[in-house]
Amino acid sequence: MSTAAGQRIVLITGASRGIGAETARTLAARGDHVLINYREKLKRATVLAEEIAAAGGSAAPAGADIADENSARALIDGIAEQFGRLDVLVLNASGGLERNAAPDYAMAINRDAQTRLVRLALPHMPTGARIVFVTSHQAHFHGRKPVPAEYEPIAASKRAGEDALRAMIPELTTRGITLHTVSGDMIDGTIIVQLLERRNPDAVAARRTQAALPTVAEFATAVAEATVSTAESGHTTYIGGPDYLADVPA
Ligand SMILES: NC(=O)c1ccc[n+]([C@@H]2O[C@H](COP(=O)([O-])OP(=O)(O)OC[C@H]3O[C@@H](n4cnc5c(N)ncnc54)[C@H](OP(=O)(O)O)[C@@H]3O)[C@@H](O)[C@H]2O)c1
Repeated sequence: MSTAAGQRIVLITGASRGIGAETARTLAARGDHVLINYREKLKRATVLAEEIAAAGGSAAPAGADIADENSARALIDGIAEQFGRLDVLVLNASGGLERNAAPDYAMAINRDAQTRLVRLALPHMPTGARIVFVTSHQAHFHGRKPVPAEYEPIAASKRAGEDALRAMIPELTTRGITLHTVSGDMIDGTIIVQLLERRNPDAVAARRTQAALPTVAEFATAVAEATVSTAESGHTTYIGGPDYLADVPA
């Protein structure tokens, strides 16, 4: 597929549904060529790419299990071969709540797969390229604020992933590439919140008493904005959860 001149090549991991899918719609509407990474749901990713094309944008499905090294490598090699570069990498895919997930899977997907994907992508990312890490307040503030028991391994591993990515900032800076984190409260209507609501309704109800939960559209807009942000590398954008933010310097 050929892309328009000047169009950014954007890879969004885990974009077949939820926040990743909405971010894909948003960035494609702003003119980017969006590669919709999915692990299993080719049909969903294809329908989304068709929806984006029908709206006048450009996108394509890009299957890969990012927790699998060979699969992640093939994804990046394919992008390098087809486009010669990657301008924006949105690290949105996350895991650990899946039924039958191995005990070490949360760390494998939320930390190791994130840094590995960055390492694989770096040689193809030009100066000025952006990396955006998508996380939750429960993960970002892990160790500082309480986390529901069922989300603890995900929160700990996503925080470890964020720390490992932040440790790469000096190397990214040398290459003229920035890292931006977007952290959100529970996002209304997502499958994860629906799951949590079933398993632990009190935890979700407690969040709702603090403030209305942000919507998928609000969060996806913040992720899209982060891909053009001029903030210093390492900056974090917070969406929702005013009680979390009380101690965060303005
Ligand atoms: N939901 C919330 O309330 C909330 C709040 C704050 C932050 N966040 C963050 O926002 C991000 C997205 O959350 P979400 O709720 O939209 O997620 P989601 O609905 O669970 O979607 C997960 C996506 O990730 C893909 N995926 C899962 N494992 C993968 C793997 N190993 N390799 C490649 N793709 C994989 C899935 O693809 P398939 O469908 O093909 O398997 C799917 O597209 C996460 O980083 C999450 O921590 C979420």
